[in-house]
Amino acid sequence: MRDVSRRGFLAATSAAAVTMLGTPAARAAEVSWVSRLKVSDPAAVKVLQFTDVHFFSGIAKTPSLEKHRRRVTVEHLKQLLDAAKPDLFVMTGDLWCDNDGGRGAEYMAFAVEQLAGLGVPWAFTWGNHDQLDDFAAGHKSFAEAKGSLYAGRESNGNYVVSLEGNSGERLAELFCLNSKTGGLDAEARDFTKSAAKTLDAAGPRPLRIGAFHIPVRQYQDVWDDGSARGIIGENVCFEEEDRSSLPVLAEAGLTAVICGHDHVNDYSAVSGGVDLIYGRATGVGGYGGEVVRKGAKLYTLNPARKTYEWVSLLPDGTKWRPAADERKDVREKE
Ligand SMILES: [Fe+2]
Ligand SMILES: [Fe+2]
Repeated sequence: MRDVSRRGFLAATSAAAVTMLGTPAARAAEVSWVSRLKVSDPAAVKVLQFTDVHFFSGIAKTPSLEKHRRRVTVEHLKQLLDAAKPDLFVMTGDLWCDNDGGRGAEYMAFAVEQLAGLGVPWAFTWGNHDQLDDFAAGHKSFAEAKGSLYAGRESNGNYVVSLEGNSGERLAELFCLNSKTGGLDAEARDFTKSAAKTLDAAGPRPLRIGAFHIPVRQYQDVWDDGSARGIIGENVCFEEEDRSSLPVLAEAGLTAVICGHDHVNDYSAVSGGVDLIYGRATGVGGYGGEVVRKGAKLYTLNPARKTYEWVSLLPDGTKWRPAADERKDVREKE
């Protein structure tokens, strides 16, 4: 068993109702939408982001190839976890691919089994391709899986993972939000507002980071205005998002947000006081691996200073972060 498993896995709470720490009033308020995880080193909390795994993409046309890609992707998940040794990983959506023929539940069951088998506490946010006939059953599956920190069962996929020190002190909070198929909507914004309000009542705001699948519209703005550093391979697919979510995230105290969805973008920049960061697309079954190599992104948080660093990781051990002035545009010219 990996070191990370010993120190972290057993500390993962179930996604059942948990009690928040803080003031007696807050402590008394049992909420279903918070899960808690004790981390090993309060000065360097490690969160590994996987995104766009896309299990079962292309299964109808090329079933053998799809199966092979699934195997390779699972191997990559293990390699990346072995290299990063995070306290937890967060999978930011498009874990599987659609619900054609009503097979979404079967695809999800395979995917959940893989994640639960990795031996590291984990969180999940919904992607536009994570489709099912029965989402209530989906919430239940994620909530009850081994090692899962998923606490969105009663809040439609919106929840908070509280990362805590040995004595239960609040170090950082991961706001996991459901961007559905159109981007963050009123439900996600309302959840963010009310969750922040409840958590604020429990004591000073710790470092807060948001995780969701579909980027907010300002991801496009920060590339266009020249402030973003990294690589862009496609215009931002912000879907129906209309710039109204970012002020809510900022007001809720989120220092940074991490997303997926656009497989060939890996860049970041600050907008409205929030650092907008793309994850590194992970699954070899998803498009774009020949443009931006598949991998993961590791965030190392220093809660006391409310700072963090990130680096993109590839399964072969390569690490990448953009240089101070690096802007690489590999979009097809129209
Ligand atoms: Fe995707
Ligand atoms: Fe997507």
